[in-house]
Amino acid sequence: MSETAGSLEHELEGMLEIEKFPPPADFREHAEWADPAIYEEAAADPVAWWTARSKELLDWDVEPTEGLNDSDPPFYRWFEDGRINASAQCLDRHVAAGIGDRVAYHWRGEEGERRDVTYAELLDQTQRFANALKGLGVEKGDVVGIYLPMIPEVAVAMLACARIGAIHNVVFGGFSAESVRERMSFSETKALITVDGARRKGKTAQIKAQVDEEMGDLASLEKIVVIRATGVECPMTEGRDVFFDEVCAAAEPECPAEPMEAEHPLFILYTSGSTASPKGILHTTGGYLTGATTTHRYVFDLKPETDVYWCAADVGWITGHSYIVYGPLANGTTSVMWEGAPDYPHQGIWWELVQDYKATILYAAPTAIRTFIKWGADIPGRFDLSSLRLLGSVGEPINPKAWLWYHKVIGGERCPIVDTWWQTETGAIMITPLPGITETKPGSATTAFPGVSASVVGESEGEPVGEGQGLLVLEKPWPSMLRTLYKEDERFVETYFSRFGVDRYLVGDAARLDSDGYLWVIGRIDDVVNVSGHRLSTAEVESAIVAHENVAEAAVIGQSDPDTGQAICAFVTLNDGVAHTDEVIEAIRGEVAARIGKFARPKRIVWADDLPKTRSGKIMRRLLRDIAEGRALGDVTTLRDPGVMAALEGQIAAEGDDE
Ligand code: PRX
Repeated sequence: MSETAGSLEHELEGMLEIEKFPPPADFREHAEWADPAIYEEAAADPVAWWTARSKELLDWDVEPTEGLNDSDPPFYRWFEDGRINASAQCLDRHVAAGIGDRVAYHWRGEEGERRDVTYAELLDQTQRFANALKGLGVEKGDVVGIYLPMIPEVAVAMLACARIGAIHNVVFGGFSAESVRERMSFSETKALITVDGARRKGKTAQIKAQVDEEMGDLASLEKIVVIRATGVECPMTEGRDVFFDEVCAAAEPECPAEPMEAEHPLFILYTSGSTASPKGILHTTGGYLTGATTTHRYVFDLKPETDVYWCAADVGWITGHSYIVYGPLANGTTSVMWEGAPDYPHQGIWWELVQDYKATILYAAPTAIRTFIKWGADIPGRFDLSSLRLLGSVGEPINPKAWLWYHKVIGGERCPIVDTWWQTETGAIMITPLPGITETKPGSATTAFPGVSASVVGESEGEPVGEGQGLLVLEKPWPSMLRTLYKEDERFVETYFSRFGVDRYLVGDAARLDSDGYLWVIGRIDDVVNVSGHRLSTAEVESAIVAHENVAEAAVIGQSDPDTGQAICAFVTLNDGVAHTDEVIEAIRGEVAARIGKFARPKRIVWADDLPKTRSGKIMRRLLRDIAEGRALGDVTTLRDPGVMAALEGQIAAEGDDE
C-alpha cells in the first residue's frame, strides 16, 4: 500500500467514529428544502401533500379532483379522474416554455463519440417514432418490448410508447435473449425495439441475430424495429422487421400527445421474486410520474437551470426508468448518459465525464464505489471533481467505509450523500435523507421521504418493534406504488399484502430501527439475491443450472461478497459418472449466461453429492448459507440425513485447499 493510500485508510478509519454528518453549511444555505417542517406537513395529510406536489410539478390536461381511491384495497388508485400524458410532461411542456434548446442528454459513447440531445430534438424524434409505431399497428394498451443498450434512442422509444398509450416493457441489455423471450412471451408483447448490435468494452455483440434465434416463433410478436447503432451485420425478416431510421424518416413529424387516464398503464418492468418466474411490476401514469418527479426534485435538491445530473444506472432497471428518463425529463434536467462500463477505455472514465460535463450530481450504486476503492483514490484524484455538489447511492446497503470514501474522495467532504432505499415496486425513492435537512449516518438510508410511512415490525404478529430489528413495511399507499403484477392479481395480493393485511405493504427486506428513528436496511428476507445491485431470484438461477445436461440438482444461495455485495454460490449435484472438472464449472456458468445473462453466473460452485433436505424434501438453504460463509451450523435436527452436512463441510475444506 502506498503512503497516501495508507494515510487515507487511516483517516477513513478515524472518521468511522463520527456518528452523524449534518448537511454542509454551504449546501444548506442554497438548498431548496431546508425546513424540517415539511415532514410534519406531509404526515398531517399525505394524500393532500402528494396531490399538491402532483399539481405543483406536473401540468395535468385534466386536473384530478380526488387524490386516493382506496375503496378496493390493495388495488389503490391515484388521481383517478385526472388526465395526463407522460411524454408531454417530459418534452412538450419544456419546448413550449422556451427551453427546447436545453440539453436533455449529454451522451458519450464508448469510443468517445459525443451527442448532445436537446429537448426539442427528443420531442421531434419521439413524435416521429410514435407515428411510426402507430403505422406498424401499435395501439393504446398494446405491450411494446424494448431491448436496447444505453443510447439516447432508449428514451425516445419509451416516450413514444407513452405518447400513444402503449405499455413499454424494457428488458436490461445484460439479460440474454432467452430471458427477453420469456418476458415478451409472458406479456404478449406485440412489437420489440432493439438494435443491430451492442458495444461493450471495445467488442460488438450481435443483438438482432440473437433476438431472431430466440424470438422468431413468438406468436404475439408482430413487428421488430431495429436501431442501427453499430453497423454490425443484422438479419432482417421481410414484413416483420423494419429499421428505426427508415420508419422515422417516413413518418409524419407531428403526433399530438393523447391525454391518458391517470391510471392508464405506463409500463411493465419484470423483476425477480421468490420463484423462478419473474414478476411483471405494473406502473401507471399519473401516480408514477408524481412519485418519480417529486422525489427526483426533492431528494437531489434539483435546480434544473444549473445542475448537470448523472445517474449512472442502466435504463433497463427501475433506477433508469425513474431517474434517467421520467423524473429527470419531467423536471427539465440536463443529464449525462454514458454508454459503457466504468473501466473502458480507462478506469478514470467516470471522473473524466464528471470533469468534462461539470456534473453537479452523481447517483451511483455502492458496488461501483467499492470497485473504485479497489482501483485506488489516485485515479479520481487526477480529475477535477469540484463541480460535484451532491452524491447519491442506490440499490443495496452501502457499508460505512464505502460511504466515507465516497464522501471524502469523490465528494471532497462538501457534498451530502443521499443513500436512497426503494424498489422496482415502489417506483420512486421511499427512504432517504433530504440533503438540506437530514443529518446523515453512514450506512443508514435515514428516514422515510415526506408522505411515506415506513416501519419495522415483528415477524409473526407485525407489531412495531420500536428500537430493534424486524421486517420493513410501508404503511400507507403512495402514488408511485405498483398497481399489480401484470396479469397476476392474485400473486400481487399474496406477495405483498397477505402477511399483514391489505393496508401494509410487505417490502421483503429486514431492517433495524435505531434510537434516533433511523432505518438501517439489512437485506432481503426472501430468496432474492442482490448481486452488484442486480436483483436475482435463487430459483431462477437454479432452474438455469439444472437445465445443463450434466446436472442432477442445484441449490443457490447469496453469499456476502466484498465487491458485489452478494455473490451467487451454487451447490451442484452432478449426474452419476460426471467428473467434477473445471470444464463442467465453465459449462454450468455458460448455461446460466445463456439463459439469464452473464451477470447471473455463479461466482462459486460447490460440488455436493447430496443437498441438505428436510424430511418433506425441502432444501434447507439456511444451512447452505451457514456453511458457505463459514459460520457454525444452525439446527440440523430436522434434516432427513444429517450426514449430508459433514460431507459438504469436507467439500468446502477441500475447496479451501485448492486456493
Ligand atoms: O433489498 C433492497 C435493495 O434492493 C431491493 C430492490 O431491488 P430493485 O427492485 O432491483 O430496485 C433497486 C433500485 C431501487 C430492495 O428490496 N436496496 C435498494 N436500495 C437500497 C437497498 N438496500 C439497502 N439500501 C438501499 N439504499
